[in-house]
Amino acid sequence: MKEESIIRLSNRMDQLPPYLFGMINKMKMEKRRKGDDVIDLGMGNPMDPAPDAVIDKLISTAKDPKSHRYPESSGIKNLKLEISKYYNRHYNINLDSEKETYFTIGSKEGISHLCLALMGPSDSVLVPAPAFPVHIYAAVIAGANVVRIPISPDETFLNRIVTVCESFYPRPKVLMINYPHNPTGVVADRELFKEIIKLAKRFRFMVVNDFAYSKITFDGYEAPSFLETPGAKDIGVEFGSFSKSYNMAGWRIGYCVGNSEIIQALGKIKGYFDYGIFSAIQVAGIIALRDCDDTIPKLASLYQSRRDTLCDGLERLGWDIQRPKAGMFIWAKIPEPFNKMSSMDFAIEMMNRANVAVAPGTGFSEEGEGYLRLALVENEERLRQAVRQMKKALNEIENL
Ligand SMILES: Cc1ncc(COP(=O)(O)O)c(C=O)c1O
Repeated sequence: MKEESIIRLSNRMDQLPPYLFGMINKMKMEKRRKGDDVIDLGMGNPMDPAPDAVIDKLISTAKDPKSHRYPESSGIKNLKLEISKYYNRHYNINLDSEKETYFTIGSKEGISHLCLALMGPSDSVLVPAPAFPVHIYAAVIAGANVVRIPISPDETFLNRIVTVCESFYPRPKVLMINYPHNPTGVVADRELFKEIIKLAKRFRFMVVNDFAYSKITFDGYEAPSFLETPGAKDIGVEFGSFSKSYNMAGWRIGYCVGNSEIIQALGKIKGYFDYGIFSAIQVAGIIALRDCDDTIPKLASLYQSRRDTLCDGLERLGWDIQRPKAGMFIWAKIPEPFNKMSSMDFAIEMMNRANVAVAPGTGFSEEGEGYLRLALVENEERLRQAVRQMKKALNEIENL
């Protein structure tokens, strides 16, 4: 009889499919190692630098030996005060800086650990789909039952929540939302948040809003904070990120604001896992929140120009594209005759034939099949080049 291997993983590992972006990334790295110039529209990983003032502050603070100790895990006092001022200035919301704010090692970490604090086996969580993978899999890792609801910009989305809540026992405990939405670009207005809060109170679920793309908005659209809507703080929290608004993706700093009991639970669980964010990054974070309001519209306008360049190019190829009002992505339906391929196969073809990395829609759950997500992280010249290379590759595929 064959002896069982010593290396045995937990059962929960069986519930995690291979991370599709990991596969695309690996292909990209292999091609780059061979000398191919891959245009990377795969991940929403900004290539532009953080504001100078923020970098300068990081450098000077990193030289202070006091910065090298374990940090204040929930966030240093002045950073917590600064996010409260930011919310007041941008959204007219008052936050108790001590009880209603918590800094996380990026919003992804915060969301993941919050899932462990809020849910476990026998709990259900509602997740609009397609979805940023952590919205589904942090709940799966926590042992919860994930109920995916197709996202739509209209009231069918709310009706679907009602149907699920009425038909589930025990009723869903958490609704995980993400407006502006990755990958689809769907945005919320205050009316939608009002309705969601009504449903949350009626069916007694908590709401977590991932607000990572809060400031990357276009054509005059401004994304409301979930917490602006009366009653939001009674039932939910909002996560924010420095990764997109300030190009600080690698720094790993984000935050959770809102309901104090939920925030307390997040702090409790994180206390067992980590010690928070490097102090020098926290101090630099104060500069971002306090002094960099004027860099945000410039960044948004950069993404808007890239959006237009890429959409113009894809439209010239005959693709039917919805221009998003926010976010860093184009969510593009794969047109005929190429839609006979799966989105993963299509992404692989684009990598191999066009040297363009894109994210397959199924990386965001089955609901994403038939779509690609293209990140606006390369400059306009490279985006135009990507379209030219895709055009050539599509011609090759058509003539096979
Ligand atoms: C919707 C969404 N939330 C969170 C994140 C991760 O943000 P952070 O870098 O703050 O962990 C991303 C990154 O792409 C995202 O798209």
